[in-house]
Amino acid sequence: MAKFIVAPSILTANFLDLKSDLDKLEKVKIKWIHYDVMDYNFVPNLSFGPKILTDIVASYNFKMDLHLMVKIENISVEQYLKPFLVKNVKQITIHFEALTEKQIEDFLKFCANNNIIPSISINPDTDVKSIEKYLSKIGNVLIMSVYPGFGGQSFIASSLEKIKKLRELKNKHKYIYSIQVDGGINDDTYKLVQNAGVDMIVAGSYLVGPNVENLMERVTKLEG
Ligand code: DX5
Ligand code: ZN
Repeated sequence: MAKFIVAPSILTANFLDLKSDLDKLEKVKIKWIHYDVMDYNFVPNLSFGPKILTDIVASYNFKMDLHLMVKIENISVEQYLKPFLVKNVKQITIHFEALTEKQIEDFLKFCANNNIIPSISINPDTDVKSIEKYLSKIGNVLIMSVYPGFGGQSFIASSLEKIKKLRELKNKHKYIYSIQVDGGINDDTYKLVQNAGVDMIVAGSYLVGPNVENLMERVTKLEG
């Protein structure tokens, strides 16, 4: 039995060849796909929106893990999220730094109303303390181990302390959230996050893209 859930990020795919990457991931029995939405506002990059998501879920049975690196402006949280509510979207992560308190409350309500696992992410410079008041209300915490915006960056080691802290708080208060890490996972770093206490590991360039070799072996390592 796998000890850790592995969610490959398709951001590092060659988008003209996305189908071949998804086929390979399906073949090695990946259950979750991590879908990185970027807005050129909260982060200095633009990726994809509901259209590609809708196309993916129409052809595959992956559970979809949405990572929204976006600010929400001039539109309600509900209106913004609605187009992303397609089949098999199971978990949605927003960034603590990107939304107002009111927007975070609206997000939690939206998830409760639509049977979505609510998840909050913090950037490498943000302390776990800042999201403490949400920890009893969410189903997942995403620790960014790189600055959000791009795949293929180097792992930031200070994220390990945050993972340990979250594990400690979870045990102490019997919280139900899972702990997820995203950014810079590879042969040198995966054991560190496993030992620190994550439940779910996101990996982009390590698992997805034209130059990935020995995919099955890599997935097996991450699954523990
Ligand atoms: C970065 C994204 C990540 C990214 C991970 O902003 O949130 O999901 O695709 O890529 P790697 O694993 O290459 O750091
Ligand atoms: Zn991500």
